[in-house]
Amino acid sequence: MRAALTLAARGLGRTWPNPAVGCVLVRDGAVIGRGWTQPGGRPHAETEALARARSLSGGAEGATAYVTLEPCNHYGRTPPCALALVEAKVARVVVACQDPDPRVAGGGLTRLRDVGIEVVTGVCEAEALALNEGFFNRITLGRPLVTLKVASTLDGRIATATGESQWITGPTARAWGHRLRAGHDAILVGIGTALADDPELTCRLPGLEDRSPVRVVLDSSLRLPPTAKLATGAGRIPTWVVTGPSPDPARAAALTALGVEVIPVAGANGQVDPAAAMAALASRGITRVLVEGGASIAGALLGAGLVDRLEWFRAASLIGGDGLPAVAGFGVEALAAVARFERTAVRSAGVDLAESYRRIPGKASV
Ligand SMILES: NC(=O)c1ccc[n+]([C@@H]2O[C@H](COP(=O)([O-])OP(=O)(O)OC[C@H]3O[C@@H](n4cnc5c(N)ncnc54)[C@H](OP(=O)(O)O)[C@@H]3O)[C@@H](O)[C@H]2O)c1
Repeated sequence: MRAALTLAARGLGRTWPNPAVGCVLVRDGAVIGRGWTQPGGRPHAETEALARARSLSGGAEGATAYVTLEPCNHYGRTPPCALALVEAKVARVVVACQDPDPRVAGGGLTRLRDVGIEVVTGVCEAEALALNEGFFNRITLGRPLVTLKVASTLDGRIATATGESQWITGPTARAWGHRLRAGHDAILVGIGTALADDPELTCRLPGLEDRSPVRVVLDSSLRLPPTAKLATGAGRIPTWVVTGPSPDPARAAALTALGVEVIPVAGANGQVDPAAAMAALASRGITRVLVEGGASIAGALLGAGLVDRLEWFRAASLIGGDGLPAVAGFGVEALAAVARFERTAVRSAGVDLAESYRRIPGKASV
């Protein structure tokens, strides 16, 4: 199952709106087929693994299938994976976690058991749930998994008082940042960052140049100029601007003409409502969002309780109190109301430190 989970992780950032699944077929102690969800969400992992078993070992009869998510049970563009496993005459199916998608929700397991296939569930369940947390969030909460990425000094500053922020961390941390981009469906910034840095928000790691996710800007009054790199590159890389409920028609037309998708959502206090923005992304199939700032957007999302994970890169430097704090205020008055996270990893990233955190369940931020 751990091998299947590793295969599944290859799909992260490329399988939306579907989950990233891995499948390993084993017979007589030998692996006879491996598969993982392909870009765009199909073919599914089981289909891929069964095809390999057919071409390399004459089929999967009598094999054990290790699958990281309950096999699907509904007809889409291809027949259900549960049916494919039945027809391949596998003897046993080991599943890490159930699929909350109402079209599956236990039906895949029932179909297998009904024909006498031995089914084992819950193997490496926690890892499998964490791997596809984005997909599960989309199905059960109607929003994607939100990861906030920050590159700060030791004193938590992301820019100097004059707005200079490139670069706070070194080349290794920045490369890790690009690797993070490749594993997400969308990268999101506020219009403040888009205007200050004119970023491309692409994955530029050698070999992963085709892994740039959708680029999203939260921009309440369509201030993104048509000359911004995000706008001029929209024909090449999907670029969505999430804006207030009544966007200026001329500004919207200028951006749309460049290939930008303008998405009006509900407002809150004259700005884009963060929850409405996330719901709009989920309704378009996005399961994993990497938020890359700036301070105001980080504060707004934390204040709305919408940040699930943190990827915090910390440089061994100090800017001081007149620099821009990583997170704008979000109304915390009592310590009992702070946003609490648990650390899941600490690594060296060249000269910097890379810390990963996940939200402690049940701890609202404000
Ligand atoms: N070191 C790092 O990791 C890092 C990363 C990113 C950015 N930065 C730096 O951070 C600075 C930009 O940060 P920033 O705080 O000025 O800008 P920001 O957070 O990127 O964008 C803020 C803008 O987003 C818009 N917005 C839309 N909906 C919002 C909402 N619900 N809540 C808050 N804002 C909303 C607002 O403009 P409208 O009202 O017009 O919509 C707001 O002014 C730059 O200096 C940049 O270089 C550093």
